[in-house]
Amino acid sequence: MNFKYTEEHKMIKQAARDFAITELLPGVIERDDKAIPPIKQIKKAQELGFTGMMTDPNYGGVGMDTISYVLVMEELSKIDSAVSVLISVQNSLVNWGIEHYGSEEQKQKYLYPMASGQAIGAFALSEPEAGSDASRQRTTAIDKGDYYLLNGTKNWITNASEAEYFIIIAHTNPEKKHKGINAFIVEKASKGFTIGPAENKMGMRASHTHSLMFTDTKVPKENRIGDDGFGFKFAMRCLNGGRIGIAAQALGIAQGALDLSIQYSKERKSFGKLIGNHQAIAFKLAEMEARTEASRLLVHKAAWLKDQHKDYNKASAIAKYYAAETAMYVTTEAVQIHGGYGYVKEYHVERLMRDAKLTQIYEGTSEIQQIIIARELLK
Ligand code: CAA
Repeated sequence: MNFKYTEEHKMIKQAARDFAITELLPGVIERDDKAIPPIKQIKKAQELGFTGMMTDPNYGGVGMDTISYVLVMEELSKIDSAVSVLISVQNSLVNWGIEHYGSEEQKQKYLYPMASGQAIGAFALSEPEAGSDASRQRTTAIDKGDYYLLNGTKNWITNASEAEYFIIIAHTNPEKKHKGINAFIVEKASKGFTIGPAENKMGMRASHTHSLMFTDTKVPKENRIGDDGFGFKFAMRCLNGGRIGIAAQALGIAQGALDLSIQYSKERKSFGKLIGNHQAIAFKLAEMEARTEASRLLVHKAAWLKDQHKDYNKASAIAKYYAAETAMYVTTEAVQIHGGYGYVKEYHVERLMRDAKLTQIYEGTSEIQQIIIARELLK
């Protein structure tokens, strides 16, 4: 593994940092509090190429590597995970999935506008009764000759309010279990497609999460991704990369909370000295730093393996598991270090703690990551 960043890596990291400070920081507390979607901020992220970072320039993207992507995810997530989650879903699940498994027509029609920042996409696997157990899909897509007829409900869908195009996972032949699942690109304007109200979430409140409902929605045959029955593996492969993005998000949340805690420890006094000079606080800071740095190494290892076209299934699960657990630990300690101030909104750490919790849940809970890791060990 190469520990040296290229000039391009350093530049993109700085660009993401500048964007986060100038565009995301102002108003982040109010957007979260009132669940105001960051529309202006997303537009700017699209203009800067963050929503097509890893896509081939032939399809409208910037063509950067996964290391660049995790550097950007970390910087943005230090400040505003409601924006970074959109960028993660767009890059790792939607763009990557269509670029690697879509037809040329699908790439021209759907990938190009998304990677070039003109449209947003969403990825819908979860259902009311199929969250962790992803093969138990109830949504059906029945083959009607030159189209599929889609019926069912999807849950917890990030980007649903912004997206024009949706990747929908559905059963075409339930008897075949996971081999009877397919993935489809569905346009927002499709008849019979409705989007439910936004969930009232604990964290990442400015990123709206919705249910999707399909009633006899016609999906053209040419919108199926890959061969018949490829949908489950398609979803799993997208999630393998998606977990690197969420791991980088968790890393950013941890680093953001640690930075604020260090700053606070150098300003706040108790018992006649700066709190950082009390061992009770110094030990906490050291532990937070050690775990955050370990998360960074795991995130970068998974990203590096992906860039080297090596197997990154286990590495992405380890990175997601460890970074999410670390984000929860570090943000909880950050609130503790800030005392009463940590429990109010102005100091940011309570928001980071609420955001951290989601990284242990979405794109596979921590327990799902443990299952993936253990299966890899035992196979
Ligand atoms: N990568 C590639 N292939 C994989 C895979 C992986 N990580 N995991 C399983 N597969 C393949 C297997 O090799 C197997 O292939 P064969 O048919 O050739 O044998 C096939 O898929 C079935 O595998 P399993 O029998 O192991 O599948 P399973 O039903 O036991 O499930 C699981 C495995 C890991 C638990 C999986 O269900 C899983 O990842 N669950 C969590 C899903 C998840 O993360 N959901 C959140 C989605 S995010 C969302 O929808 C909302 C949003 O806004 C983004």
